[in-house]
This record gives sequence, structure tokens and C-alpha cells, in this order.
Amino acid sequence: MKILLLGSGGREHALAWKIAQSSRVDQLFIAPGNAGTSTVGKNVALKADDFEGIRRFVIDEGIDMVVVGPEDPLVKGIYDYFRDDEQLSHVPVIGPSRAGAQLEGSKDFAKGFMQRHGIPTAAYQTFDGNTLEEGLAFLETLKPPYVLKADGLCAGKGVLILPTLDEAKRELRKMLGGMFGQASARVVIEEFLSGIECSVFVLTDGKDYKILPEAKDYKRIGEGDTGLNTGGMGSVSPVPFADEVWMKKVEDRIIRPTVQGLAAEGLDYKGFIFFGLINCDGDPKVIEYNCRMGDPETETVMLRTKSDLVDLLCGVAEGNLASRTLEIDPRSAVCVMLVSGGYPGKYEKGKVITGIDQVEGSVVFHAGTACDAEGRVITAGGRVIAVSSYGIDKAEALAKSFAEAQKIQFEGKYLRRDIGADL
Ligand code: AMP
Ligand code: GLY
Repeated sequence: MKILLLGSGGREHALAWKIAQSSRVDQLFIAPGNAGTSTVGKNVALKADDFEGIRRFVIDEGIDMVVVGPEDPLVKGIYDYFRDDEQLSHVPVIGPSRAGAQLEGSKDFAKGFMQRHGIPTAAYQTFDGNTLEEGLAFLETLKPPYVLKADGLCAGKGVLILPTLDEAKRELRKMLGGMFGQASARVVIEEFLSGIECSVFVLTDGKDYKILPEAKDYKRIGEGDTGLNTGGMGSVSPVPFADEVWMKKVEDRIIRPTVQGLAAEGLDYKGFIFFGLINCDGDPKVIEYNCRMGDPETETVMLRTKSDLVDLLCGVAEGNLASRTLEIDPRSAVCVMLVSGGYPGKYEKGKVITGIDQVEGSVVFHAGTACDAEGRVITAGGRVIAVSSYGIDKAEALAKSFAEAQKIQFEGKYLRRDIGADL
């Protein structure tokens, strides 16, 4: 098989690493990829949302399957674009249709979907420019802190959590006034939930599903979960509180109703569903849906996925996922992200990275890297490299990642030393 994977981050290197291990794969292409993906496949200089460029490449190369890493092409309808094109319709796209991707593309849609299917989530209401006064009045009925969510995609920046009513009212006015452009033309205001978060992933063919290993990610830049939000500073799998009892609640109350709800509403969905969950006194509730895998969760979930991922993806494409097996590695896996100095604020790119070839006990996934004219690996983003490791337990895996992370050097390198410490 010839597979084209879209995307360029740590998630995509982890997916590419796993796909490349499959005996069913003859050739793997990654568009646009990074310095890491070029070690397990061939990078193609195409953006993940350049549908016409991708179309030409898929036809010229005779690609058999397209796997979509990030949400953007899915929300823009790459699945539908392939389905509706005579020359592409035979090529399966792993990812939901544009309508199914609304689970991530519209917070208001996701909340309404959960309400229609009795899926536990925070109470909410949605407001727009015409209902600002009602929105302000609704805020007065809530207790602090206040949660405001832009309806549309905002590259992870669309959720504000405000400690006081005054700030919440001010930010609501700003959001509805165009703070995030069209994405905040509607704003979901919801009840604040407290608890520990956990990311759960499933692969579905629209009828059946397989539950992949769960993981916890670490979003803040500073140790002890302080400072600004990032794209993710590390992840840990398994998550101790996600035991059999808790996961049964997740499956019965959240996963099955979601997959059945998608089918009942006629939403074409053949791909990954990411459930961002929170544990409220033993009961799971949905914080958000994403229509793709998580980053940096994929950098641990792929380590723990023992089965051939491509066999599972073929099950998705052929609609017979139920007949495939998913075997999970019982070991722990962790990932520690090395980031550029200054990130998530201003940071410099182009720093030469050394020592990757000396890493022995861990798997190195590239997130933001590139090759310079002399073939050296250089930094090309805020999050640069994920150092992923197995261990008999979390402690052993963490010790490995931290030891191996010391071998990799670039100017300004920063990492959190407390990944997994809260569990
Ligand atoms: P989201 O983009 O929806 O994942 O939101 C970003 C982060 O905001 C989540 O990972 C949570 O940490 C936090 N968050 C979102 N919604 C709530 C809520 N209702 N209660 C508490 N925290 C929330
Ligand atoms: N790790 C959270 C996300 O991928 O959205």
C-alpha cells in the first residue's frame, strides 16, 4: 500500500513511525512532514490543507489511503472533497466528513450533540452579537470562575477561564466583538468543572469502535501547571484513575452514545475521535471533542498500541473494524517535550540540534524541526522534540526520558521536569 499522511508535528511523526512498521505499507509519504518524518517516509512539500496539490499528488503517485493528522483539513472538508471527486472517491480518507468534524469545529454544535444524546458535559448556553445582553445576564447566574469558549477553531486559544464576573463580562463583549474574528461570532458560556483531565481516543468506522490507550497531557508551560497554555509539554499513559470501572462509565455514557449519535444523525465519521474528559468525583464528563488524535498524547499512545495500526485503519476504511484486533502494550509510556526558549511567547528558530543520534533508550519524535541547507537538523517551531519512553511503570519511563533528554541540545532548550508527578 501507498499511504499519504497529512501534517507536520510530533503527532504526525508518531503516526508515521507506527505506520512505517506495518508490513502492509510499501511507501509512506508525509505532507509536509518534518526532519523526523523524513527518517521513516518521504516528505512531500505540500501543505495539509492544499486540497488541489494533494489531489494531484494522490493521482500521480497512486496513493491508496490518506491519513489526516490535524483538524484543519477535516473541518475544511477534505473527506468530502475526496468522496465527491470521480478520480479520488476510491481513495479512503481516515478522518470524518466536514459535518462530522463539527464535533471539533463548532463548540455549539458539540454541546447540542451531547445534549441530544444525553452525554454528560457542563451545562451551557450559546450567545451571539444579537444576544449579548442575555449572555451578560446568564453570566450573573453562574458561580466563578467563568468559562467562555469561542464557537469556532482558534488554534487552541479560544477558551478563556475568568476568575471574576467583571472580567467575564468584559471578555464576552470582546469575543462577540470579533476578538477571534468569525470564530468568536458565537460564544459558548459554560459551567466550570473541577477535576483531573484525561484524553481518551477511539478509532471508529462509523458503526463499531476500538478504544486506544488513554493519556494525560500537560498543557501549561510552567511546572506545577502554572503559566501560559502551550500545545502540550508532555504526556503519560496509562492514567491511573482511568481504571476498568471508570473506563466502563466512559464507554457506556460517552463513547457508545457518541458513535451511535453520529450514525443516528447521518454524520459520516470514519476516523479518530478524541474525547477530552474530566473526572468529576468519579464521573467522567466531556470537556471537548476533537476530530483527530491529540498532541502530545499520540507520542505515548502509539508506543502502547501493539497491533498493526494500518490493519486497523483498513478496518475503518472497509467498514469492518469489528473484525480487527487491537492489542495494547501493558507497559507505561511517557513523553517529555523539549521546547524553544521563550515559547509559548516569542522564540527564535533555526537553532542547530545536536545529540539526537546518541539517544538509545527512548524514541525521539520530532515536532518542530527542519533540515538546513547543510543537512543539519534545526529548530523550526516552539515545541521541538518529544522524547518518548517505555517503562515497567511511569517512574521508570520518566527516568529514561529525562536522562535521554539531556543528550539532546539546542540553544534555549526548556522542558518541564514534573510531567506525570501529579498522578
Ligand atoms: P478546550 O479547548 O475546550 O479543550 O479547553 C481548553 C482547556 O480549558 C481544557 O483542557 C480545560 O483545562 C479547560 N476547560 C474547558 N472547559 C472547561 C470547563 N467547563 N470547566 C473547567 N475547565 C475547562
Ligand atoms: N493535547 C491536546 C490536543 O491535542 O488538543
